[in-house]
Amino acid sequence: MTLKGKHLIDPNDFTLEQFDTIFTIAQDMEKNPEKYLKLCDGKILATLFYEPSTRTKFSFESAMLRMGGSILGFSDANTSSVKKGESISDTIKVMDGYADIIVMRHPREGAPKLSSKFSAVPIINGGDGGHQHPTQTLTDLLTIKNLKGNIKNLKVALCGDLKYGRTVHSLIKTLSRYEGMSFYLVSPQQLQMPSYIKEYVKNEYNVNIVETENIEDVMDKVDILYMTRIQRERFFNEEDYLKLKNSYILTKDKIKNAKEDMLIMHPLPRVNEIDYSVDDDQRAVYFKQAKYGVYVRMSLMAHLLGVI
Ligand code: NCD
Repeated sequence: MTLKGKHLIDPNDFTLEQFDTIFTIAQDMEKNPEKYLKLCDGKILATLFYEPSTRTKFSFESAMLRMGGSILGFSDANTSSVKKGESISDTIKVMDGYADIIVMRHPREGAPKLSSKFSAVPIINGGDGGHQHPTQTLTDLLTIKNLKGNIKNLKVALCGDLKYGRTVHSLIKTLSRYEGMSFYLVSPQQLQMPSYIKEYVKNEYNVNIVETENIEDVMDKVDILYMTRIQRERFFNEEDYLKLKNSYILTKDKIKNAKEDMLIMHPLPRVNEIDYSVDDDQRAVYFKQAKYGVYVRMSLMAHLLGVI
């Protein structure tokens, strides 16, 4: 049952009980941060980011620093020996001697999983291509738990780029494991959720899924509206991106009929999909969500390092 020494590559690597353990400690870390100031004294986190990031990289770094540990790493693989042609396996075999825990973001799907085969220390997937993003899912679940009280019986709309968006792939797989969840998938035809994920959650968890292109169809029905950015970097040509980039733009007017207690979530960064005027609506929780990401990553690392 202990999480010590485990990797987190896919959200299915952990049980719901293990998630709960992580959330309980994360909640205490937010309430009583002074208790944890020295928890990771002497521990080193390596952040190996082969793709751009603001929140994921800095929230991991902030998390480690808030527990008294240290950080090293790169945010541009071109400044590392990758540029000279070093393989991932060699980089990892060296880095696991320099750090106690590693978080990796990579444009290639499966790169963190491959790395975990070579690593003597825990590897955390910080996002692999258009595939998975398990720590964003932990962040999302903690946000729902904190603001809704429970992860149960919720109608959730996932909106935007459901084809390339790794956050929504991890999120639907994981939310489907909870009781009574149902989903509205809102996207342009070209950016629908891949069939293998829809089939998986339907067959495995018997969840109800409705697909639509119109965000208006779901607005007064859902408890959570999870917006995502059109993933420009995953398109094969710019023209296709330009056609789809403004598919959904949430405005104050559009949320008029939404439930009073609906949560508007977004993994960030946003581009155009939520108008700035929505930010001061009480339902907009994306900045809170980003903050919860620090506590959940503190708790995750403390568990994987076995210091708690
Ligand atoms: C997301 C990602 O990298 O997948 N960002 C994040 O980690 N919060 C979402 C995105 O880039 O659109």
